[in-house]
Amino acid sequence: MSLLAVEEIHTYYGEAHILQGVSLTVAEGEVVTLIGRNGAGKTTTLRSIMGIARPRQGRVRLRGDDVTALGTHEIARRGIAWIPEERRVLPNLTVLENLRLGMLGTRGKNGGSDVLDEVFTYFPRLRERIDHRGRFLSGGEQQMLAIARGLVSRPSVMLVDEPTEGLAPLLVQNLTHILGAINRQGTTILLVEQTLEVAMALSHRLYVMDQGRIQFEGTPDTLRRDPTIQQRFLEI
Ligand SMILES: Nc1ncnc2c1ncn2[C@@H]1O[C@H](COP(=O)(O)OP(=O)(O)OP(=O)(O)O)[C@@H](O)[C@H]1O
Ligand SMILES: [Mg+2]
Repeated sequence: MSLLAVEEIHTYYGEAHILQGVSLTVAEGEVVTLIGRNGAGKTTTLRSIMGIARPRQGRVRLRGDDVTALGTHEIARRGIAWIPEERRVLPNLTVLENLRLGMLGTRGKNGGSDVLDEVFTYFPRLRERIDHRGRFLSGGEQQMLAIARGLVSRPSVMLVDEPTEGLAPLLVQNLTHILGAINRQGTTILLVEQTLEVAMALSHRLYVMDQGRIQFEGTPDTLRRDPTIQQRFLEI
């Protein structure tokens, strides 16, 4: 059984029919990436999984359980962590306070300092800046804090929306490496990523989206050998 399954969802913004029958699966331990042009529907897919943009048709299942109609907080409590595009760290709270907030009401709450130690091994820079307020962090540090805040909840699956967007090349490399390490330690990841090399390096499988539909599903190797899909749906 898939850890996470999206089954034929249709999601609308008002009357605009955005997702037109999107299906995907994520197995325990995988990194699965959604890739595709701007406006393809990648973020809407993640928002649909979280119950923020509610699908009008179709199902979202976590370990087989139908979570489509649940509230966003309940979906998070059941183990889906969402790291949105906008890196919402709380500007007036310190790094530690932001992380403690991530631990509230989740399985991370019993982890205490263990779970903090664990995330600081991925993000040593955050330990150095533990007492700094969110607004004094650099863009890269804010992204790291947003991911760390998801991790401290000890999610079953983490949805990460364009984590490398706007970061300098060295930071992109660093973050790619960290996300790989997080996955190897057992966290399942559904990633949205526009940078093909990052997606190829991290993913076990990829889905290419265009105009609210899945146009391709396969391994990095099969995508690499498919110039037609690359030319039609990716900016390369
Ligand atoms: N709140 C909204 N209200 C109305 N339309 C929206 C809203 N958010 C997104 N859309 C539209 O839905 C479509 C899919 O948007 P979505 O944000 O899911 O794309 P995306 O693949 O994440 O793109 P990007 O790479 O730019 O982040 C686009 O046509 C977009 O204009
Ligand atoms: Mg998006």
